[in-house]
Amino acid sequence: MISNLRNYFFGTDTLINTHCGLTNRVYLNNAATPLVAKPAIQELYETLPIYSYGNEPNDLSAKLTSKYNEVRDIVMNFIGADSSLDTVIYTANTTSAINILSQVYYEHDPDKVILATKMEHMANYLPFREKMKTLLVGLTPEGNVDMNDYAAKLEQYSGQIKLVTVIGASNITGIIPPFHDMAKIAHSHGAKILVDAVQLVQHKAFTMKPHTDASHIDFVSFDGHKFYTGQSGGVLVGDKAFLDQYKPLMYGAGITEFVSSSKIIYKDSPERYEAGYPDFLGVISFGAAIRFLQNIGMKNVEEWERGLYQYLIRRLSQIPNLILYGDVYNNTRTPFASFNIRDMSYHTLAHLLGYVYGIDIASGTNGSNLYVQNLLGLTDEQALSLYRSGEEYGIVRASIGLFNNYDDIDRLADALFCISSQQL
Ligand SMILES: Cc1ncc(COP(=O)(O)O)c(C=O)c1O
Repeated sequence: MISNLRNYFFGTDTLINTHCGLTNRVYLNNAATPLVAKPAIQELYETLPIYSYGNEPNDLSAKLTSKYNEVRDIVMNFIGADSSLDTVIYTANTTSAINILSQVYYEHDPDKVILATKMEHMANYLPFREKMKTLLVGLTPEGNVDMNDYAAKLEQYSGQIKLVTVIGASNITGIIPPFHDMAKIAHSHGAKILVDAVQLVQHKAFTMKPHTDASHIDFVSFDGHKFYTGQSGGVLVGDKAFLDQYKPLMYGAGITEFVSSSKIIYKDSPERYEAGYPDFLGVISFGAAIRFLQNIGMKNVEEWERGLYQYLIRRLSQIPNLILYGDVYNNTRTPFASFNIRDMSYHTLAHLLGYVYGIDIASGTNGSNLYVQNLLGLTDEQALSLYRSGEEYGIVRASIGLFNNYDDIDRLADALFCISSQQL
């Protein structure tokens, strides 16, 4: 299957207009949203003939509802959750999953402290920071979480930090923080841990580990559109008994056991947190996408993408004046690379790649403002003064997906070589 993976995706041979004419688009923006896997859509073709409102008393509606609920088991199995202790809450996306957890922790105790890191995407920082005291762990020069600072903060605030929240893999550099080691230390201080795994699980095998294991991950979030579905639908997975205790984030139908004008009894999780019409199609497609990757085998996915990544780095490191961010030789990362060309704005570089060479990449801070500032060596004050002066700062990011091949890497590297040479 690996040899003809491209055939399993939509959009791998799409043409794009450039200043030099029509060419084949190269898609290297998978960390933003990857191309869509055909099996995820095939599943919808099979589901649409029985599509209905769901949850109604007839055979087809029951079939639809059960297909939808089965995805909870697929997710549990995929990330090693414990079906007797964990719950899978369906959410619109990763952002909404994390917002639910931030609300839960606020309910739990608004005066407690959250520990995040400077690697985080804003989806895993602002929901906490806007509600509670949220501390940030610093970074190593390689662009990973500084474990000395992490341990020191947990020690200093021991008993006050209730939740550690950390990215599963950076959406900028792909670097994977040592979250199982972080979990062990967090637990020894009475804190739980959330791993925002939306950039990790489609690239590398991941497990929450058993609840009895000191390095167990308590909560996990990820979603379908970053998992080759092209649709919304995400999950928050974690400790059911804990999540059953708190108020929902969103209110509406489907979340109550009983309502009268004087009494409301809410359902337990997952329904407690799933107000409104279920995203049957997004969720069912998400389940099919997970099964597609499981059939390929996560080890095979990882190996194929690692080969592409190593080739990308080999080619990019030969380009004059190209600056690569983070420790690019570290193997514990997903296949993303962020770069700039010396003395050229990221904005110009991104436009040249897109409009002249037909290469779809991401640019700017990509939601990880603090991390990008850190990689660029900017202090808070310098970042603010650049913002005020209207001078933008950022990086250009190439992120590999399962359908990419060595020709895609060559197209990017050749384009960068030309751009960089003309710059000399
Ligand atoms: C690491 C990380 N976390 C969270 C998010 C938010 O995901 P979504 O926009 O699907 O809610 C992103 C999006 O890029 C991300 O890269």
